[in-house]
Amino acid sequence: MIKQWFAKTVSIALGVVLLAGCEPPTAESTQNGFRGTGMLQLEQPKVREAKVAANQVPAASPALPATPPYAKDVYQNVQVLGDLGVGQFTRLMAAMTQWVAPEEGCNYCHVTGNLASDDIYTKVVSRRMLQMTQHINANWNDHVGETGVTCYTCHRGNNVPAEIWFEDPGPRSAAKAGWRDNQNTPAPVAAMASLPYDSLSRYLLGDEEIRVIGNTALPSTNTSSIKATEGTYSLMMHMSDALGVNCTFCHNTRAMADWTQSTPQRVTAWYGIEMARDLNVDYLDPLQPVYPEHRLGDLGDAPKANCATCHQGVNKPLYGAAMVKDFPSLTVEASTSAMGQVSSEAASAVATSEAVDRQEAEGI
Ligand code: HEC
Ligand code: HEC
Ligand code: HEC
Ligand code: HEC
Repeated sequence: MIKQWFAKTVSIALGVVLLAGCEPPTAESTQNGFRGTGMLQLEQPKVREAKVAANQVPAASPALPATPPYAKDVYQNVQVLGDLGVGQFTRLMAAMTQWVAPEEGCNYCHVTGNLASDDIYTKVVSRRMLQMTQHINANWNDHVGETGVTCYTCHRGNNVPAEIWFEDPGPRSAAKAGWRDNQNTPAPVAAMASLPYDSLSRYLLGDEEIRVIGNTALPSTNTSSIKATEGTYSLMMHMSDALGVNCTFCHNTRAMADWTQSTPQRVTAWYGIEMARDLNVDYLDPLQPVYPEHRLGDLGDAPKANCATCHQGVNKPLYGAAMVKDFPSLTVEASTSAMGQVSSEAASAVATSEAVDRQEAEGI
């Protein structure tokens, strides 16, 4: 008797403890597809409140006119922002400090006492970041619309954005656990599903085919393998996780491939994939020789961006706050001197001799 009573009490107590870990069924749903298709987004009000609080943007200081003197006439080593008035230039430097290095201040990117020097890698990286930001806002409106991005979209007051990725060699214990075939272990990139753990290298750096579903009822021309399909699903898990949505935000799940049954957001996402690839290939990966070793991945590659770098769990980064309208210089691609492009040679040259030579020549 007592034994039974005890077992019952323990199991009830255990049940209560276990259930305490569950979310109460108070999720709010938003319909985002045709009626009756079950295309709903579910969100806990508490989770949303926390996300809204984490996505507030810092206020911009008042805008300044583009009046002379211009930065290029006053400063010695300005390659991207030369056409700004000195007031505007200083305002942008202050904003960049707030967005990327609020604790460290100007000296995170500047050698003390010599603002023109390029002897610190963070400045060389920042110059390329300026160009990348301009490129996104000027050429990727199909994705970022009028909302655009600033350094804050990715950095949020951190030196290193919270969400970056490297090529993933997989868990170290692979030999012990047997052949994992690049998957079969919880993959952070795929929201901990046991899907391929290095899918971003394939789709957001490489341009492997994402489409896997055949157009005919019987197998005929579709040569996609199960492995390609698993890769696609891994990327889709990343995208859903990064935006804080489920698959029905973009797909009618009865016909994943069919664009006519998909939402407009799927088209935006398609441009997002192309854009992320472009940023990684043209801007972020080539910065590899500029970074110190402790910033590189296990395989020696540079840190890269994915959907989460900007989105950070929200369907529109910062809930669509349009910060860039306050910084028009970040919306046009500046014509730059060749030095503004970081090639591997330029990278080492920039970091060492150029600025020093110039200062010496000018007797500074
Ligand atoms: C996140 C990095 C970063 C921070 C922080 C930063 N700067 Fe800069 N700064 C740059 C970059 C990059 C350039 C070069 C811009 C170009 O080439 O168009 C630059 C150039 C300058 C120049 C021109 C120097 C010359 O003669 O060529 C001045 C002046 C300057 N910054 C002042 C400041 C001040 C003042 C602060 C702090 C309020 C600051 N910067 C914070 C990245 C930064
Ligand atoms: C699309 C997202 C994105 C935007 C926009 C962006 N960055 Fe970055 N930034 C990155 C990534 C990714 C890295 C690599 C992180 C690392 O260094 O480990 C990075 C690195 C840096 C670093 C090097 C930090 C370090 O300590 O190694 C600096 C400095 C920097 N960014 C400045 C800027 C500035 C200034 C802007 C705006 C003009 C900007 N970034 C805009 C994604 C972005
Ligand atoms: C933010 C929008 C978005 C979300 C969320 C999303 N997808 Fe996708 N999905 C896309 C886009 C865009 C493509 C097409 C990519 C291309 O063609 O380059 C695609 C392609 C696919 C394909 C391949 C279709 C074909 O033509 O062969 C499958 C399968 C798929 N998604 C499944 C999923 C699953 C499962 C989820 C949820 C885990 C999901 N997707 C979440 C946007 C999304
Ligand atoms: C450089 C920053 C950045 C990156 C990287 C990025 N996005 Fe976006 N994304 C944005 C901005 C900004 C918007 C808001 C555009 C607007 O307001 O019209 C947006 C909007 C979207 C939307 C529309 C949401 C809606 O509610 O209408 C989708 C879907 C989306 N992104 C998917 C993706 C996917 C998938 C990836 C990765 C493959 C990605 N994004 C990578 C900046 C980014």
